[in-house]
Amino acid sequence: MKRAIFAICIGLCTAGATQALAADEPENVIKYRQAVMKAIGGHIGAIAGVVKGEVSYTGDVAAHARGIQEMSQLVSKLFPKGTDNGMHKNTRALPEIWQDWDKFGAAVKAFQDASADLVKIAEAGDPAAFGGGLKGLGTSCGGCHKPFRAEKK
Ligand code: HEC
Repeated sequence: MKRAIFAICIGLCTAGATQALAADEPENVIKYRQAVMKAIGGHIGAIAGVVKGEVSYTGDVAAHARGIQEMSQLVSKLFPKGTDNGMHKNTRALPEIWQDWDKFGAAVKAFQDASADLVKIAEAGDPAAFGGGLKGLGTSCGGCHKPFRAEKK
């Protein structure tokens, strides 16, 4: 019994050590950031299905909106220096992000505000208002993608 517990401890401690040593290689940060963006896109897609009336899951919209709002708090950390598309092939992040970090910050803030608005609208529970909230949020995605994301090749 004692030995088993010891073995588990060793396993956990080693896992912890590996995490602590994760070096955040730019290529991996880029993959991580794209995964977060995809998660945001997934929630938007789900909300759009409700807004278009394709599905009746109006009660789920607040959960999706909260998911986006949580992700919106992570966004600025996803863009460390040295992860632009001039230096790496696997990203569409333009160097302009770092050349105009204040403008980028404003786009992040607009996104955070729009997602907070959508949470409020969704929690108020009137499906007729969901479309307006979604549109506002969609505008904030474009407000960053247009200046700061390269076209798909
Ligand atoms: C503050 C800037 C910013 C905001 C706001 C933003 N994005 Fe992005 N997004 C980016 C950048 C930059 C990329 C390219 C990332 C890369 O390729 O490394 C990206 C990539 C993506 C991708 C592609 C991910 C992949 O697999 O390559 C999706 C999907 C996406 N965004 C969805 C959204 C949606 C939906 C919203 C709004 C709800 C949003 N984004 C808001 C900057 C932003």
